[in-house]
Amino acid sequence: MQTPQIGIFALGTSSTAYLEFDARDGTTRDLVGAIASLREPRMTIGGVNLVVGFRPELWRDLFPAEAPAGVEGFNHDLVGPDGYRMPATQHDAVLWLSGSAYDVVFDVARGAIAELAELASVADETSSWSYRHDRDLTGFIDGTENPTLVEAAELALIADGRPGAGGSILLLQKWSHDATAWESLPVADQEQVIGRTKDESIELTDKPPESHVARTDQDRFGKIFRRNTPYGTVTDHGTIFVGLSADQRPLVAMLESMLGLTDGVRDALTRYTQPLTGAYYFVPSTQGLQRASTA
Ligand code: HEM
Repeated sequence: MQTPQIGIFALGTSSTAYLEFDARDGTTRDLVGAIASLREPRMTIGGVNLVVGFRPELWRDLFPAEAPAGVEGFNHDLVGPDGYRMPATQHDAVLWLSGSAYDVVFDVARGAIAELAELASVADETSSWSYRHDRDLTGFIDGTENPTLVEAAELALIADGRPGAGGSILLLQKWSHDATAWESLPVADQEQVIGRTKDESIELTDKPPESHVARTDQDRFGKIFRRNTPYGTVTDHGTIFVGLSADQRPLVAMLESMLGLTDGVRDALTRYTQPLTGAYYFVPSTQGLQRASTA
């Protein structure tokens, strides 16, 4: 049985750092090997979970037998019929570090950057934290319709016997919130935008077709596992969308639906939020990483 990188499912992590890297010229094999080796015990002390992922095409070039078919990076901006844009900011690799406090995440992140310095540069870096237990910075509970941890493994991980088994496809997007516009909406209007009540996250029976939960309805697009976190400062903040799936299609279909690419109906939440980044990564199994570390 292939085992996943366990940090995907870690609980009680109130501090997170996402580091995206670009390989320096000609170093992709060395970089993958070095990142795979970061899972040595010295990197797992201090209660920090480390999940690593690679640009899907980069992983496939190096380990074709261990790559899920047809998975692609976020290689082109996605643009809706009205011009709303989701930018493609694909990088070569990602480290997703999470822990119970920021000091340990900070130290491990710095150590990892130093270890990789000759092979890759940090292209994007975001630190994030939890807000009022399980809310995002819209003030709504985020994750209500997530599968339980038992179900999540089945949905998020590629099944045994398939290329890339035990791995997962990660969509990482940094969304900036227009807090002023959002907070000027009465709560009843915010609830129409999300499609759920604000206090208890009860799904509205008559939710509008442009509401966020209607545009990302998992009964329509397939189920995914989300690990979103709030990021930013008091004056400039938003949501890191972290979506995992055994199959890239639900993730792509949800983004297209949010843009209104299929039926011209744009997700109402996008009137108050704007993606700044967008990348897909293949997150290999621990066995895949072990092989990559010695290849
Ligand atoms: C600013 C960015 C985003 C924010 C603040 C946000 C927030 C939320 C909230 C509050 C809910 C309702 C509660 C829940 O079930 O979790 C929700 C549901 C959901 N969101 Fe998002 N979301 C964002 C972006 C995205 C993106 C980019 C995707 C997909 C690629 C997505 C996929 C989903 C899914 C699948 C659901 C559950 C839908 C269902 O009821 O089946 N979200 N989101």
